[in-house]
Amino acid sequence: MSSIIKATNIVKSYSAGKAIETVVLNGISLEIERNNITAITGPSGVGKSTLLHIIGTLDEANSGKIEFFGESETFDFTKLDSSKIASFRNKHIGFIFQFHHLLPEFTALENVMIPALIAGEKKSIAKEKAINLLQKTGVLHRQKHKPQELSGGEQQRIAIARALINSPELVLADEPTGNLDATNSDAFISLITDIQKSEGTTFVIATHSPDIAAIADIVIKMKDGNIESTQKK
Ligand SMILES: Nc1ncnc2c1ncn2[C@@H]1O[C@H](COP(=O)(O)OP(=O)(O)OP(=O)(O)O)[C@@H](O)[C@H]1O
Ligand SMILES: [Mg+2]
Repeated sequence: MSSIIKATNIVKSYSAGKAIETVVLNGISLEIERNNITAITGPSGVGKSTLLHIIGTLDEANSGKIEFFGESETFDFTKLDSSKIASFRNKHIGFIFQFHHLLPEFTALENVMIPALIAGEKKSIAKEKAINLLQKTGVLHRQKHKPQELSGGEQQRIAIARALINSPELVLADEPTGNLDATNSDAFISLITDIQKSEGTTFVIATHSPDIAAIADIVIKMKDGNIESTQKK
């Protein structure tokens, strides 16, 4: 097995007031296998989103270590300063959320292009890549529309294209089908399965969806801020 992420003894707690401390991640250790779809499951409040945010450098653990084994470089998150973390994240990790967070004042095409422009890509190349991805995700005909003019399923397809524009090795998705109907949810699942196979992207998906757990190569089940079981298919 070749890991892309190795998390060791991750502790995350929140304190509300002086006396109350909520431990969300209780010394969790795990490895994410590259070139696979991993589903993270477990009851509401168990820490799935928190774990995903920490793996994605959107949030910081109180203690523990996270290593990212890139194709050409290894990163230890505890040793990256905040400006390096932002550029590392933009380049190496794509994000898909339940609420897609598309920018309302930009068109679908522009929303997909933005991470590439931030990464320093030439506008013409960013546009070419974005058009390619909109084609692949089946929403090229909506490229000039703004998010509010699009259906939930279309918005989520644009969010997938945006997550993939910098060819990230790792894509983290938090409840990506939580806001979709059954048809769009099925379409989402077959789209990411196809992309995983064609691009070799590693996906980690926090989800309540049994359909996503069913297609995942590995299912990590969380309980009380830790791992209850890891099932490999
Ligand atoms: N900023 C915060 N401040 C305080 N507590 C928080 C904060 N963010 C999350 N929590 C707490 O951490 C726990 C885990 O939250 P998390 O969002 O990771 O759960 P989850 O497994 O993703 O749940 P769901 O399935 O409902 O999305 C919850 O009890 C939540 O209340
Ligand atoms: Mg969550």
